[in-house]
Amino acid sequence: MLATIGSAAGLGNIWRFSYVAGENGGAAFLLIYVVGVALIGVPLLLGEFSIGRRGQADAVTSFATVTPNRRWGLAGWLLAVAAFVLLSYYAVIAGWAYKYFAGYLIGDVSNAARGGFASYFNSFVADPIEPVLWQLLVVASTVAVVMVGVRHGIERVNKILMPLLGVIVVMLAAYGLTLDGASAGLAFLFRPDWSALAHPPVYFAAAGQAFFSLGIGAGALLTYGSYTPAGQKLAPAALTVVAGDTLFAIIAGVAIFPAVFAFGLDPAHGPKLAFVTLPEVFNVMPGGRAVAIAFFALLGLAALTSAVSLLEVPSAVLMRKFRWSRSKSALFIGVAVFAAGVPSALGYGVLDGVTLFGLGILEGIDRIASNIVLPIGGMLIAICVGWVWSRRDALQTMDLQDGWIARAWLFLLRYLSPLLILLMLLGLVTE
Ligand code: TRP
Repeated sequence: MLATIGSAAGLGNIWRFSYVAGENGGAAFLLIYVVGVALIGVPLLLGEFSIGRRGQADAVTSFATVTPNRRWGLAGWLLAVAAFVLLSYYAVIAGWAYKYFAGYLIGDVSNAARGGFASYFNSFVADPIEPVLWQLLVVASTVAVVMVGVRHGIERVNKILMPLLGVIVVMLAAYGLTLDGASAGLAFLFRPDWSALAHPPVYFAAAGQAFFSLGIGAGALLTYGSYTPAGQKLAPAALTVVAGDTLFAIIAGVAIFPAVFAFGLDPAHGPKLAFVTLPEVFNVMPGGRAVAIAFFALLGLAALTSAVSLLEVPSAVLMRKFRWSRSKSALFIGVAVFAAGVPSALGYGVLDGVTLFGLGILEGIDRIASNIVLPIGGMLIAICVGWVWSRRDALQTMDLQDGWIARAWLFLLRYLSPLLILLMLLGLVTE
């Protein structure tokens, strides 16, 4: 369970939530996001977990053995590919967090003057080498943790350090509220522009964010589910993880949006939003540099535990399928994932101008992975647990009594999730 918290809590809560909420009008997005998390996030999270728990193996083997037809193993491959693609650019953003930690430690971020943080960021990401070096450091540290094994590698980090990150984000939010102009930020985040609800892309963005932030659809939860012993009650723990993850993102929003408005920044700034906004806050906050050092260290660790969950998916497949050792599998995938992520790392510099669907490389891949690939993974999970399994299989695996909770879970999984995901994929095609 601790590892699952580590998988959920990460850059998605701070970096991605703020940039996607900012691009999609704030409050209306948040409203759809919260409803989406409750109605499709929770059922799918439990569904993905239960496949791993029943299969007691990696994504490919689990799908093949918990269904009557071995071709379901292909669903497992899709999840493993999704995890690979996500990790390729996730490591780039995590590298930005590592870089800011180092930058605050030696003092060169804090030396950039007020209003100069955007150029600090821009010159960093435009460098032909530096973003790649930080990305490499992230991949190397992720491989190292996976080699040691999930349990020894990250449980302790999650138990102590993630709550500490929560405390710092709460402090930042409290401080953010005292800034001049904070109320405009709060209105942006909490007072919906109802007309935005008629705008389908906001729904797609909210759904994509729900998959990303909860870590659904790439086999990470499945793989961790396979490590949980039977008899452990998972449903209540899963609800806690989901509620905590969502609250975390909202508090991060309170830390970021008041500052966006107070410092005259643009909420629709894209993936750099948190990295140009938070330094403005640290700059004016008493003791800001020390807080920034702690914040980026913990953000880097939160990102690392998420990256570990992603690397674990394809590594577990290789260990099982080819009987490779844990170290060999992690190293092999690590090298490939690093190479695959280099274009994302260079997308704001050498490869600036290369676009995917009109977006920069990193944002384009992020969009495809979160809004298309993860939902397809979610759909396969919903069909497997909701339709291929019997009701008894599903309830038994989750240790659920046949009460209203079980009925609600299966209803949402069988009907609502596939339907909404289908509408979303069709909507994206016609967009
Ligand atoms: N949820 C993580 C975050 O918010 C990222 C992540 C970890 C993830 N494992 C995942 C995203 C699996 C999708 C699928 O940063």
